[in-house]
Amino acid sequence: MQELVKEIEELKKERQAVILAHNYQQDVVQDIADLVGDSLELSRYAAKTEAKVIVLAGVRFMAESASILAPDKTVLLPDIFAGCPLAESIDVQELKREKEKYPDAAVVCYVNSSAEVKAESDICCTSSNAVKVVQSLPHRRILFVPDRNLASYVARFTDKEIIPWPGLCVTHYRVTLEELEEARAAHPQAKILVHPECRPEVTEAADFVGSTSAILKYARESDAQEFIIGTEMGILHRLEQENPGKKFYLLSPGLICPNMKLTTLSKIAQCLKEMRPVIKVPEDIRVRAYQALERMLEVA
Ligand code: 13P
Repeated sequence: MQELVKEIEELKKERQAVILAHNYQQDVVQDIADLVGDSLELSRYAAKTEAKVIVLAGVRFMAESASILAPDKTVLLPDIFAGCPLAESIDVQELKREKEKYPDAAVVCYVNSSAEVKAESDICCTSSNAVKVVQSLPHRRILFVPDRNLASYVARFTDKEIIPWPGLCVTHYRVTLEELEEARAAHPQAKILVHPECRPEVTEAADFVGSTSAILKYARESDAQEFIIGTEMGILHRLEQENPGKKFYLLSPGLICPNMKLTTLSKIAQCLKEMRPVIKVPEDIRVRAYQALERMLEVA
């Protein structure tokens, strides 16, 4: 493995590349990344990097966001099949039909969406700024796509009418209230930290709800010594690295995203060698999707 790491370091220099990894990536992938972060942090970094090549160790919509924000860079997705079923739960035709039903509504799309859907939306959001984004809009009605659980979480903090699309993240949906109660009974001192993609009854019962990086921040800053984690298991790597001595328990054994696990060190080396698969959003879609992402970055 050391040889592979060395090869990636050399290829990175040769290609003037950076590796951006999502908090759910395998430990070894996180360890070689220039930045490990949540969706918002990955977007911010992609928008400002001086590198020529961005390797996005994550899923397709993340690579598309990088391509939208940094059109002059080459964006590589190490495994072309690393998709996101939540992002794929709505296509642009479905969104257009939904917009016709609610002509007075603003469209807020979660970053877990295709570039085409972003292009058809007024503004984008991530799990770390969804409430702020919705509150920044003058509209009374908000079409919120595609995650119904994040939509219902946002609805708790606003008087606006939130009209959700019925998409969901299958990984977070697996977590049940029963599991949460069992985990609380097993570790009564532990704080329960969950992602807003979890079911409403789970987010209501948790001690903290936030994006992956907000969960990391909470654990770093908390005086508690034990935590029950309700998001994808890849986050345990940073939680344990950043908090020696604190204990972390996964809320459900089902918290594993197969798409996030498709990225491997050898695929990263290969994509840097071959300079593919490239993710390039067509310019007519990119310029409109850029506006939705740029508006979000301004609000956030
Ligand atoms: P974060 O923005 O919280 O990292 O979430 C991304 C994601 O896809 C959660 O499933």
